Order: sequence, then C-alpha cells, then structure tokens
Amino acid sequence: MKVDVLLGLQWGDEGKGKVVDVLTPKYNVIARFQGGPNAGHSLEFNNTRHVLHTIPSGIFRENAINIIGNGVVIDPVIFKKEIDALMALGVDVKKNLFLSKRANLILPSHRILDAASEAFRGKSKIGSTLKGIGPTYMDKTGRNGLRIGDIISSNFKEKYDALVEKHRQIIQLYVYEYDLAPYEKEWFEAINLIKEFNLVDSEQLINEYILSGKNILAEGAQGTLLDIDFGTYPFVTSSNTICAGACTGLGIAPNKIGEVFGIFKAYCTRVGSGPFPTELFDETGSALQKYGNEFGSTTGRARRCGWLDLPALKYAIMLNGVTQLIMTKPDVMDNFNTIKVATAYNINGKETQILPFEVNDEIVPVYIEFKGWKTSLTSFNAPEQLPSAFVEYVKFIEKEVQVPVTIISVGPGRDQIIFR
Ligand code: GDP
Ligand code: IMO
Ligand code: MG
Repeated sequence: MKVDVLLGLQWGDEGKGKVVDVLTPKYNVIARFQGGPNAGHSLEFNNTRHVLHTIPSGIFRENAINIIGNGVVIDPVIFKKEIDALMALGVDVKKNLFLSKRANLILPSHRILDAASEAFRGKSKIGSTLKGIGPTYMDKTGRNGLRIGDIISSNFKEKYDALVEKHRQIIQLYVYEYDLAPYEKEWFEAINLIKEFNLVDSEQLINEYILSGKNILAEGAQGTLLDIDFGTYPFVTSSNTICAGACTGLGIAPNKIGEVFGIFKAYCTRVGSGPFPTELFDETGSALQKYGNEFGSTTGRARRCGWLDLPALKYAIMLNGVTQLIMTKPDVMDNFNTIKVATAYNINGKETQILPFEVNDEIVPVYIEFKGWKTSLTSFNAPEQLPSAFVEYVKFIEKEVQVPVTIISVGPGRDQIIFR
C-alpha cells in the first residue's frame, strides 16, 4: 500500500487534528513527519477537547499504531505532559506509540536560544511559539544535535553538557538572562520516561508496514505557507511542511506516496508575524475570530483572520501535488450576508495569480463576492443537505483550483463531517 499524506495548505491550524482523528478508523498507522510542540492539533469527542503537540492524532483510536518520525523534534517535558494526560484518560500509549531513534531532541537551552533570538529581533520578531523549534533544527542541520537514540548511550550526559556549553556561549552574545536549572530537572525526568517507550528505526518499520499492505496516513504539522523553503520567509517555521517533508521525515520514497489530502479553512488565519494579503482589520475579521474561536491551540494567542486566498491556495496545491481537498470551518460564516474570495493580486497596477517572492503591503487582493448561505451547516452530515449557495461557493473553488473538495468539516466534533 502507498502512504497517504494529510497536510495544511495555509498558515497552520486548518483542522488537521480533527480530520486525522475522523479518518483514523480507515488507517492502521498514523505518522507525524515534521515540526514539534509548536503544533497544536485539537480534536473533540464526548464534548471534550483534546490538544496534541507531538503525538499523532490517531492516538485516541484503540487499534491505530502512532509513529513520531525522524523529521520531528521532541521536547521531552512537553511529551511527558501529553503522555500523562493520555494515560489519565486510559489510552494505552506504551503499546501503540513508536518514536524514531533519529528524531532530534529539543534541549532546555534551545528554548532559551529561541527566546533570546526573538528578543534580539525586537519588532521584526518571527512570532515563534518559543518552543525551541528553530534552534533545534539549526543544530540538526549544523550536525550538533542530540537524538532520541542517544538517550540510551552511556555518555549521554557528556554529550548533553557539551551542547549546552555551546549554547551558553551563543546566549552570551545576545545578553539574555536565564536559568536552566528548573527546566533541566524536569527534562531529565522526562528522558527517563521516554526510555520506557518503543524507540525504533521508524524508516524500517514504516517500509515493512508498506510492504505488508498496511494503510498509513502521514499527518503534517503547520502549513505550506510556513514551509522553510516555500513559505513567507523569514516568517516561517524551520521544517519542510510540504508533502516532500513526509518522504524525508519518515524515510518513504516519493513513489510510495498515495493520496495527498490538502486541508484548508473556508477563510484564512495566521498566528505570529508575517505577511497576510487578505487579512481583515474590520468587523468581519473580528467576527471570523469570534465565531471561529480563533485562538492558538499552543500559545493561546489570538489568530489574525481574513478571506480565503486562492492564489496562495493554488500555490500550495502545486507544491504538494494535492489530489483531494478538505474544507474546514465554513460553519463559522453561517450568518454572513456576503463572503469574499481573493482570486488574484493587484501589484502596482498589474494583476497576477502568482504569489510573489516578496509578499508585502503592495499586494492588493482582487475579490469576488458570494451571497451567504445563511443556514446552519453544523448538523448536516450528507452532501444533499447542503444549501445551494454554499454548494455554489464550493464548486467555484473546485473550478478555480481544479481539485475536488471531497470532505467538508462543519464543526469541531468527530461526527460533524460530510463526505462528498
Ligand atoms: P490543527 O493545528 O490544524 O490541528 O488545527 P487546530 O486544532 O490548531 O485549530 C483548529 C480549531 O478549529 C480547533 O479548535 C478545532 O476544534 C476547530 N475545528 C476543526 N474543524 C472545525 C470545523 O469544521 N468547524 C469549526 N467551527 N471548528 C472546527
Ligand atoms: P499547527 O500544526 C499555526 C507559527 C508561529 C510563528 C512561526 C514560527 O498547529 O498547525 P516556530 O515556533 O515554528 O518557530 O514559529 O510559525 N507556527 C504555527 N502557526 N499553527 C502551527 O502548527 C504553528 N507552528 C508554528 O506562530 O509565526
Ligand atoms: Mg494548530
């Protein structure tokens, strides 16, 4: 069997956690391939909201195997908190969760470096989640990192101390006050917990699963516009969030990729700094934030909101080879009289559908307007029930991007889903 990939097409928070949870019964294995605890994937069942940061969103389904791949960066302290919460709910994490030995570790000093770097940038800060993501991937590509497989080696503490010493010297350049001690204690306790888990060569395991015909879904984190190569650089994260990241982040050959599910909100949000051409600063933006409950799952920060951006969506579809689209949160606009979609950008008097190298204030979106459907979508579960004004909106998007919208999510709950 091939590996299907589900990933975000915007600036993250498209609803990946919810939809992976819904799709998990169709899969034997769910695998995260990049990012780390900067992610916050929420899913809801029995009227309770759960937020996962490092652990794949298949963990609540009894028979699913969950893998944290080599491309992920792990903060042991955050991992332990997630594990404690899952165990309290009776989830058998030790049986169903596998960690790649090649996944890099986020050290307490990586978090300090992240904070020091952001403080140094001042007004031009990235708006990082401050989880140490950037510094950890820097150490990975700089060939200094510590990996999960290192924790069982006899000289792990020596390796740790050597890397922390290097970090101390860099932090000095920033002139930043810090105290590692309190976090370090928790960190080593959490390392001991990780030793009790299945630490594996996950690339071998996944390829064995592929050969034996298991259904595998790779779960992306962040979104395409936060990709280190193709996002709105430098306001991006530090990993490849696009489909190619699933190959390097799990050790799967490109010809083993099957369906690519691209997930997008019926509007746009962004948390942190950086350009956002269709951002709204008016009542409509506030309404999207209010009805969409647009507050970060990881940091609690308010998410910036705006209209759907088709040039950016097309770009993301191209980069990922999306075969099926999943739309989330149209229900947030149930009461809207009109709904806009950007179909092009006007840059210095010229119209284009291409996201330029530099996304800046010179971009003026060109909008098309739709009549609102003014119907609550939240209890619908079959395509025939959908109001015609909404279907028109979906069909317009499909025609523009030339990929079918096969799944529509109409609320945070597990059963608020429509397969078309
Ligand atoms: P992720 O990072 O892509 O997993 O997304 P987040 O969990 O950070 O943010 C998505 C938010 O929207 C969460 O609070 C979800 O519970 C919620 N959500 C997901 N799908 C829908 C939907 O179709 N409608 C509504 N109203 N909320 C949704
Ligand atoms: P999920 O998986 C939304 C944003 C941060 C910041 C930038 C860099 O839940 O969709 P980092 O901590 O990676 O150095 O931050 O990326 N960011 C996210 N925004 N959803 C996420 O993950 C994000 N992960 C990082 O806000 O702008
Ligand atoms: Mg999120």
